[in-house]
Amino acid sequence: MRPRRTLVIGLAVVAALSGGATTTAVAGRPASPPSQDSTLRALADRHRLAIGTAIDVDALDDPQYRQIAGTDFSTVTAENVMKWEVLEPVRGQYDWSQAEKFMAFAKSNDQRVRGHVLVWNNQLPAWLTEGVADGSITKTELRGILRNHVKTVAGHFKGRIWQWDVVNEAVTDSFDATDGRIGYKGFWAQNLGPGYVADAFRWAREADPKALLFYNDYNIDAFGDGGPLDKTQFVYDMVRDLRRKGVPIDGVGSQAHLSTRYGNYSAFQLADMHLRFAKLGVATALTEVDVRNLLPETQTGDTVNPLLQAQAYDYAALLQGCLASRQCISYTVWGFDDGRSWTNTWDFGSGPGREALATIRDASYQPKLAYRALQAELAWAGPPLVLPRVTQPPGR
Ligand code: G3I
Repeated sequence: MRPRRTLVIGLAVVAALSGGATTTAVAGRPASPPSQDSTLRALADRHRLAIGTAIDVDALDDPQYRQIAGTDFSTVTAENVMKWEVLEPVRGQYDWSQAEKFMAFAKSNDQRVRGHVLVWNNQLPAWLTEGVADGSITKTELRGILRNHVKTVAGHFKGRIWQWDVVNEAVTDSFDATDGRIGYKGFWAQNLGPGYVADAFRWAREADPKALLFYNDYNIDAFGDGGPLDKTQFVYDMVRDLRRKGVPIDGVGSQAHLSTRYGNYSAFQLADMHLRFAKLGVATALTEVDVRNLLPETQTGDTVNPLLQAQAYDYAALLQGCLASRQCISYTVWGFDDGRSWTNTWDFGSGPGREALATIRDASYQPKLAYRALQAELAWAGPPLVLPRVTQPPGR
């Protein structure tokens, strides 16, 4: 930004903060208050930030779900229909129908697509896992099967995917680390060794030269102490080392599945994560944001409201952290209504003491404090003080 404009903007901000007569139109632009009717998409577009949601394809038959999903967001992620068990339920036989229904929805709303997920340890088809378990699929054959799946799927959607989650959740957590340090985990690492990660990115790049290729994981929202149990540090080192070997990793997705029961990050901790990965030359994205609340045994308005406020703070802090880095290019919530959230069926307990209310709208699609917090952040932390996102071209 040229010095003169900085000075002008600086003076305007000082005037505004010092209670000047009126909120000066910063750098000649009118202050744009957060209209309650502004869509998240319209507000985020001002930052060139893609704001998105996971899409439950079965829910697209619900007109209200479809209308919100199609207007509030500029990017969408397939919650389940691009996973291996859905796309290749029988070895070598692909069923694209559900995924293409999702793609048609995205295209009809001019939305960019986050492909999810080429390689993950979960939601694998039985023919694959049972074949490995009974020895009918050898390790050599398994690597060929993985290569074929990655190249077939990335090839099928070639040119239509903005960001691919190429590898998801390949790394342990502090709570399931072995011998006191973070490492690789799951079906693929156990059977092929950690080298499958580099393989998957290279095969995805061969199949689609334009997609941004992401590593995606949870509990990497902020750096810890940098020690052997710091998962974010492990992922940082993994990405750095793979890129040094020429592996085409373009981005890191922080899922940000949070819960107020564990306390809240500060926006500075979250910003630090985005900024440090940006210095590696990769984009970042918040890919699966939701914030569960540990519900009290007796749910009354005066016990739930502080939880909703804490939840709103977390959603806003995550967004502030993302806006602090120009390489943070998208902010995706993992579903937008409490009625359909995956957390309702996951093992977060049941009954009144469970963790729930994780999303930005309630079960009747009404905006919650968290939704209003996102609107406000996007509206007030606006340009030109918050610089627009920049997306580097895909790595070779
Ligand atoms: O499709 C079957 C259906 O035929 C069957 O009748 C029904 C009942 O058993 O199950 C259906 O499959 C369910 C699938 O979602 C589709 O709805 C699975 O049981 C269920 O386990 C699966 O849950 C998904 C979960 O990943 C599986 O790990 C959630 O919807 C999905 O939101 C969640 O998303 C993951 C991301 O992909 C990766 N990051 C973590 C995130 C949360 O776990």
